[in-house]
Amino acid sequence: MKTIDVKLLNRPYKILIDFGLLKRTGQLIEPFLTGEKVAIVSDEIVWNLYGKILLESLNGIKHQVFIQPSGEETKSIKYFEDLCEHFAEIGLMRTDLVISFGGGVVGDLAGFASASYMRGVSFIQIPTTLLSQVDSSIGGKTGINLKHGKNLLGAFWQPKLVISDVSLLDSLEEREFQAGMAEVIKYGAIESKELFDSLLKYADRKEVMKDIVNIIYECCDIKRRIVEHDELDFGERMKLNFGHTFGHAIERAGNYKKHTHGEAVALGMIIASKIGERLGITASGCSDKLIDVLSQHNLPISADLDYKELIDYIINDKKKNKSGINFILLKDIGKSIIHSIDADDLFSLFERGI
Ligand SMILES: NC(=O)c1ccc[n+]([C@@H]2O[C@H](COP(=O)([O-])OP(=O)(O)OC[C@H]3O[C@@H](n4cnc5c(N)ncnc54)[C@H](O)[C@@H]3O)[C@@H](O)[C@H]2O)c1
Ligand SMILES: [Zn+2]
Repeated sequence: MKTIDVKLLNRPYKILIDFGLLKRTGQLIEPFLTGEKVAIVSDEIVWNLYGKILLESLNGIKHQVFIQPSGEETKSIKYFEDLCEHFAEIGLMRTDLVISFGGGVVGDLAGFASASYMRGVSFIQIPTTLLSQVDSSIGGKTGINLKHGKNLLGAFWQPKLVISDVSLLDSLEEREFQAGMAEVIKYGAIESKELFDSLLKYADRKEVMKDIVNIIYECCDIKRRIVEHDELDFGERMKLNFGHTFGHAIERAGNYKKHTHGEAVALGMIIASKIGERLGITASGCSDKLIDVLSQHNLPISADLDYKELIDYIINDKKKNKSGINFILLKDIGKSIIHSIDADDLFSLFERGI
């Protein structure tokens, strides 16, 4: 088993990564049982596949299970309200424990409910998608969507423990696995040339899975370092948004149906590295390297995009600040910076052809 210690002031926690951890859940959560019961929040797909293993591991620990429909719609006020009402109904106390068992959707919803209910109940993440194991389960961002946009309501609420059982990834649909790989590639691009280069050597998903504990460990360790420096996302943490400024706009332009988050981020990373090359900030050849590694993992490297529409979305997005739009640009593979670009300059870059 690989372990990472996240050293946040007053709220340190461990991330455990290995095959077969789910069946040890009862034993692993034991040190965090300060109350009487555990509320487990999961989604229907994950629960049908793995609920039995989790329940068997609990070995007499008193629990209640709350199953949500699978999908992004669950990250809404309605499901948040229902979940909190359920917590109240079973008399969940501040000393009790919430476990989120699912992908990023369940993690964000259950995490936010834990952060809010009675001003905060301890919670443990058991992420079940590659994206949630490398990204959403760590770092303490929790939240739900509003009609006006994604993740507009939320809280920083660190888990007490993260249990990443990589065996669960076997049942992930191909596109979901690729979505996680886009984030893995992102970590390499912004912080680790070694990780980035190593990703070129895997012929297929089966090969990736042979090394998955190490790959997830590297990604989580990069996120740990960044979050330890900038927990509340005022500086360095923004680097984790490489490819996401255009990525979010691409997702939105396709009504969140045309491209998955990972596919949109893949395209966004290529656009950002091309912009960086045009501005003379990114070493030339970086976008070609990104294209190589993204196509190696079956992620899209081109799409029919309306840049004017995308830039309009970006201008209206939260990333705009007074002096321009904050972009994460690469200096080279493994080195990234935050760079502000004026909206007019952005339009003219695209008009001249990027
Ligand atoms: N909090 C953060 O820091 C952070 C970071 C990145 C993303 N996010 C959020 O995470 C969400 C996306 O997370 P996601 O990609 O995990 O999506 P998800 O939770 O919707 O899971 C994707 C799909 O896979 C299914 N699934 C989950 N685990 C499975 C398994 N082991 N086998 C088979 N199917 C499984 C789910 O039922 C769902 O249909 C978004 O809402 C995004 O905003 C949050
Ligand atoms: Zn992302």
